[in-house]
Amino acid sequence: MTNLVASIRKRLKKFKWSVASPEIASLDQRPAALTMLFPDESESLREFTMTNYTGHGEIVDLGAWAGSSTLALAQGLAQNKKVDTRRKRIHAYDIFIWEQWMSDIPWNTPLVDGYRPGDSFLPLYEQQISEYSHLIETYPGDLNAMPEFPYKIEYLFVDVMKTFELANSSLQKFFTQLIPGKSVVHHQDYNHYFTPWIHLLMYRFKSHFKLRKYVNATPSTIFDYVSAIPREQLMQSYSFDSFGKDEFEAAFEYSLSITGKAARPSIESARVMSFIHQDRWEEAEAEYAGLKAKYPGKDYDVQQIESILKTRTYR
Ligand SMILES: C[S@@+](CC[C@H](N)C(=O)[O-])C[C@H]1O[C@@H](n2cnc3c(N)ncnc32)[C@H](O)[C@@H]1O
Repeated sequence: MTNLVASIRKRLKKFKWSVASPEIASLDQRPAALTMLFPDESESLREFTMTNYTGHGEIVDLGAWAGSSTLALAQGLAQNKKVDTRRKRIHAYDIFIWEQWMSDIPWNTPLVDGYRPGDSFLPLYEQQISEYSHLIETYPGDLNAMPEFPYKIEYLFVDVMKTFELANSSLQKFFTQLIPGKSVVHHQDYNHYFTPWIHLLMYRFKSHFKLRKYVNATPSTIFDYVSAIPREQLMQSYSFDSFGKDEFEAAFEYSLSITGKAARPSIESARVMSFIHQDRWEEAEAEYAGLKAKYPGKDYDVQQIESILKTRTYR
């Protein structure tokens, strides 16, 4: 997780509160004290629940951490004039177990003092979302052990696909509840070197999604769910072996074609990372040489691959 820490350090350095539109400007815009999101990502969440959310399905936050994504969703929903906000429409999931990498981030706030690996950080989350707790149902626990979500989902924010297993759990327990022609899936790790399975899976299901928005220069890419994926396809357990070479290459090409220039090194690094995740180190080294030749500067994602290859440790 040291790589995730570096990523968040980079985000904190860039942190600058920005306003996308006068409509959004009228909101309570206080960012969460603790967030792992870029301002434009939080803004996308807030904007959707305020202006686009119709109430046809629920709002789900997968990987809430200290609640900043949940808070952004709730801030928007509280301003939504079209839906009844007297019940809990936001459903937030996290294991809420502190890990060392969370302490390694330079937060500069006493809020995180005292948390040690293995501690529950549910109190921290509850503190951050307290103003909006009437809108939020929280599900602490391992997502891999959760039952299928019982309601239809209109907005699915995915910040938990950190392994193939968690990606499969997300498909089996949440994607099954998407509404064709209505739902939106927000992948927070689409443009990040660590999570190649997102490209493979989204390419496999590409005829069922349409690009809604690439959140410029952030890891986020957002999709409209346009037609139903057969349930049996969602209930399978996917792995790297589920994808042949042609589909593998086409998946990354496709992701590159629908995002922006700033996302290219992240997506191409994710392609190299797929060899690392399979312990195919020699191929990873060879692919990295091509990557570095293409991006000789100090790109963050490319540097992460370089440092993993140096030590051959990353988990
Ligand atoms: C990058 S953080 C999410 C950041 C958050 N969305 C925000 O807005 O700041 C990823 C989260 O995934 C959670 N997570 C990791 N493995 C999990 C699992 N097996 N079940 C549930 N949550 C898990 C972690 O506890 C962590 O809070």
